[in-house]
Amino acid sequence: MSQKLTIAVIGAGGKMGMRVSNNLQRSEHTVYYVENGEAGRQRTTEAGRELTEAATAVAEADVVILSVPDVALAPVSAEIVPQVRPGTVVLTLDPAAAYANLLYVREDIEYVVAHPCHPSVFLQRKTQAELDDTFGGIAAPQDVVAAIESGNAEKQAQAEEVIKLMYAPVLDVHWVTVKQLAYLEPTLVEVVACMIGDLLNEALMETVNKVGVPEPAARAMLMGHVQVALANGLRGDNPFSDACLVAMDYGREKLIKEDWKSIFDDKELDSVLKQMLHLDHIHR
Ligand SMILES: NC(=O)c1ccc[n+]([C@@H]2O[C@H](COP(=O)([O-])OP(=O)(O)OC[C@H]3O[C@@H](n4cnc5c(N)ncnc54)[C@H](O)[C@@H]3O)[C@@H](O)[C@H]2O)c1
Repeated sequence: MSQKLTIAVIGAGGKMGMRVSNNLQRSEHTVYYVENGEAGRQRTTEAGRELTEAATAVAEADVVILSVPDVALAPVSAEIVPQVRPGTVVLTLDPAAAYANLLYVREDIEYVVAHPCHPSVFLQRKTQAELDDTFGGIAAPQDVVAAIESGNAEKQAQAEEVIKLMYAPVLDVHWVTVKQLAYLEPTLVEVVACMIGDLLNEALMETVNKVGVPEPAARAMLMGHVQVALANGLRGDNPFSDACLVAMDYGREKLIKEDWKSIFDDKELDSVLKQMLHLDHIHR
């Protein structure tokens, strides 16, 4: 550890707040936990952590983690950021609000966004704990993608130290721009990957309910083929068979709109973020 830091977690009793707090609690740093929801306050104290008022927690903080819902980041940053010291690193966990310019503007602080990648589907898991940890942050190593607006190297290093602790075990932190991070999430991983994951489940249920295939047979067939589809499609492990390529072309024609790659246009990124953040328009 380079330097003992003071870290404040705002929203410490939420889903991510609990995860990052569980890890930060084991560090050598001084960590303050702030939570204003009743259920979240209870979860925090039940985990053996003491609650602190926001004003006290952020007054001395080197790093403030805003672990609140994206739709709350505008008011919460407007409440918290004016209270922090100059030079404080203010970490958010998702790029949407930063990209949509919803965060309270203050020139003398450092905004950083850090999003966990989750453990890779191809990770060589060795223990039961690693197998069970599909989300990451407990036992299975994951990468993190992060962005810092200012490019300040000292603050980036400080942020990286906290990022590696809060999402531990972490293999690598990849630094990109806020806009690139917004194209990773939501566009690449939520608009595409999560949607396809959900679609796979719907297709499984159609096979079971409409065609009448016994669920264990359909599930077994799908799970194995998902692995083959990902290994061949993303890693080139084996070529798809000739007949499979014909079926894949048929599937693409049936399921995919011709202009689907427009999701990688800025206008479409704004459109999906507007919907996710419940905004009328995105400020540029
Ligand atoms: N949930 C996930 O899987 C996931 C994954 C990666 C990143 N994220 C990001 O993490 C962030 C938090 O999301 P979440 O899913 O943990 O949300 P959540 O709703 O589970 O938790 C948010 C917590 O913040 C508390 N809170 C709200 N306003 C507060 C305030 N002013 N002061 C103190 N506490 C306050 C709420 O009471 C709640 O306990 C978001 O930016 C989200 O995009 C979430």
